Amino acid sequence: MPVMAVVGAQWGDEGKGKIVDMLAEKASVVARYQGGNNAGHTVINHLGEFRLHLVPAGIFDPRVTCIIGNGVVIDPQALIDEIDLLASRGISVDNLCISERAHAIMPYHILLDRLEEQARGRQSIGTTGRGIGPAYSDKVARTGIRMGDLVDRTLLRDKLAFILEQKNRILTKLYDAEPLSLKEVHERYLQYGERLARHIKNTTQLVQSAIAEGRNVLLEGAQGTLLDLDFGTYPYVTSSSPTSGAACSGLGIAPTQITCALGVFKAYQTRVGAGPFPTEIYDETGEMIRELGQEYGTLTGRPRRIGWFDAVLAQHAMQVNGFKSIAITRLDILDTLPRLKICVKYRFDGIEDSYPPIDLARCEPVYEEHPGWQTPTGGIRRFDELPQAARSYVNRLAELIGVNLDIVSVGANREQTIMLNSML
Ligand code: IMP
Repeated sequence: MPVMAVVGAQWGDEGKGKIVDMLAEKASVVARYQGGNNAGHTVINHLGEFRLHLVPAGIFDPRVTCIIGNGVVIDPQALIDEIDLLASRGISVDNLCISERAHAIMPYHILLDRLEEQARGRQSIGTTGRGIGPAYSDKVARTGIRMGDLVDRTLLRDKLAFILEQKNRILTKLYDAEPLSLKEVHERYLQYGERLARHIKNTTQLVQSAIAEGRNVLLEGAQGTLLDLDFGTYPYVTSSSPTSGAACSGLGIAPTQITCALGVFKAYQTRVGAGPFPTEIYDETGEMIRELGQEYGTLTGRPRRIGWFDAVLAQHAMQVNGFKSIAITRLDILDTLPRLKICVKYRFDGIEDSYPPIDLARCEPVYEEHPGWQTPTGGIRRFDELPQAARSYVNRLAELIGVNLDIVSVGANREQTIMLNSML
């Protein structure tokens, strides 16, 4: 039975939420393995429209166990808000399990994320300001607070006393900011612990048991491969690894237990925040795609930068994730365009190559052009009913990536999906 990782293959916002929500129908477990509430997964299904940040997109099916794994960083207040919002709309969170090993985002992480961004000035990364980078930094520096620590009054106080003294020195001396009160932070996080205690568990055992019993398990990635700390456009990346390999360390499963990785690609390319983007479109076509696709950040509302599909970066994503199949989303957004471009190579340092160099800012894209189909596709449910030009465009993308195409998405609703194969 499959243990399938669903991975963003570009700069995030590829539509993973919709794909996971759809595949979750046949899964027993949906487990998120990295990132935090910097993510914004939009799901539109029979229950309405939802924006998830931390809770896995399997939550709408009460049969599914939803796990927030050890590789995720959790802002407890943001998680409680999300749980309350779901509950207010009649969605049960009884099956939500939070890893005791997941690290908590603390108030100083959020403060430092924003202060560090300000200090970077023109070199700022354009983070979501949710404390993600500082929380992962503390995890690596071994000064993090884990979700399991929030249910132990003395342990939490002892850890916080040491850490907060250091953080307050940085806040006051380096940034001239107000210090945080140990008593307040301690009490507040104990309350979070109390509220979330029934969900905090050894989630590795849960995933392992499901795999041992041969049940379908979906591993839900957040952000995208090009925001990966190692394989993304460093330093304009997030502070975790959205790639498929991170599902192992982010949940406590072995590489041999993952049966396949599904890469989710948009039919074009978007990016929020700073950093190189070789195929970025600066003219009215970009504006048009942004408006048609409502390409504004789910979390921050920032306009997303728009570009043509970049097959060089797609092949890189294919390599580092080992996709066995792919989903192409948002094809319908391109319905009105008369012509489309796909970047098939880069020109840099006087040569042409199909592998991205370390510094993408030096790359000039080499495009091939394709005719548009100029026909609405949102109502189409079978691949062979797509206009010929649309079929040839997505087939070309799959050919360039070098992998089977299994899903084409032609709208935000669950049913606006063309399945070429049964995935689970
Ligand atoms: P951080 O993850 O908040 O540290 O932000 C680092 C970079 O990742 C910024 O460019 C963000 O815009 C980007 N980023 C983080 N999460 C997402 C996401 O879910 N979708 C798209 N971009 C994201």
